[in-house]
Amino acid sequence: MKLNKLLFLLLSSILYSHFTFTQSANLHSQEVEILKQIGEKLGLDRNKGWDFDKDPCTGQGKWGASVSCDCSFDRNTTCRVTQIYITSENVSAALPSEFAKLQNLKSLDLNRNYFHGTIPSEWVTMRLNFLILMGNRLSGPFPTTLTRMTTLQVLIIDGNQFSGSIPKEIANLRNLEKLSLSSNDFNGRLPIALAKLSNLTDVMISDNNFTGKIPNFISHWTKIVTL
Ligand SMILES: *[C@@H]1O[C@H](CO)[C@@H](O)[C@H](O)[C@H]1NC(C)=O
Ligand SMILES: *[C@@H]1O[C@H](CO)[C@@H](O)[C@H](O)[C@H]1NC(C)=O
Ligand SMILES: *[C@@H]1O[C@H](CO)[C@@H](O)[C@H](O)[C@H]1NC(C)=O
Ligand SMILES: *[C@@H]1O[C@H](CO)[C@@H](O)[C@H](O)[C@H]1NC(C)=O
Repeated sequence: MKLNKLLFLLLSSILYSHFTFTQSANLHSQEVEILKQIGEKLGLDRNKGWDFDKDPCTGQGKWGASVSCDCSFDRNTTCRVTQIYITSENVSAALPSEFAKLQNLKSLDLNRNYFHGTIPSEWVTMRLNFLILMGNRLSGPFPTTLTRMTTLQVLIIDGNQFSGSIPKEIANLRNLEKLSLSSNDFNGRLPIALAKLSNLTDVMISDNNFTGKIPNFISHWTKIVTL
């Protein structure tokens, strides 16, 4: 009796581990649809590595270079997208609002493309830590939407065509550590509100048309490494 019970436990644990081992997690079907919509808007198809015959979270094909996922949902059976990289792909489009529907997206890197227009207002709900839009053709005033994305730690928007002054609301970005605004058409004085961003380690603002002195408040940037 005791031996039977032991055998049963042994067998069921082998079966269980086999089951959990062979079961691979897949991207949530809703997020697959969102990625398809984004791919369609940006002209990212099979040839560009956005091949939906393969699950985006398995890293198969070129997916590994485009998408990272967290597969710990529903007891490790469901994945959600956490990072997206679309870099140097010659994408010429407006920024899709659909990125905001990926609720677990933490990092979005779209550097070196031809994205134009401004930041979609839908993005205000995003909980991004990293946003890299360097080297595109984005334009208009410093986007209000960005000043409300308070989870941002890294904001890199250099090499675009943004213009006007830096709004004082940038002070909302309390978690900001790296900020690059270089090579845009920004002007005016640096707002005193920037003093509140005491977590900044890297600040790049060159190649704009800022005026005035270097403000005294930069002495509040006690963690600054690169200026
Ligand atoms: C999910 O996977 C992690 C890492 O492999 C593991 O530590 C954890 O126990 C798993 N959780 C469940 C509910 O299976
Ligand atoms: C982008 O365009 C340039 C110039 O037309 C071309 O040389 C390059 O291969 C393109 N890159 C990609 C990833 O399509
Ligand atoms: C700096 O960042 C930490 C976490 O990274 C956060 O707890 C803290 O509030 C931030 N500093 C300020 C001045 O908000
Ligand atoms: C920079 O700003 C000044 C006014 O503050 C203006 O006269 C000048 O034309 C601007 N330069 C460029 C390149 O926009």
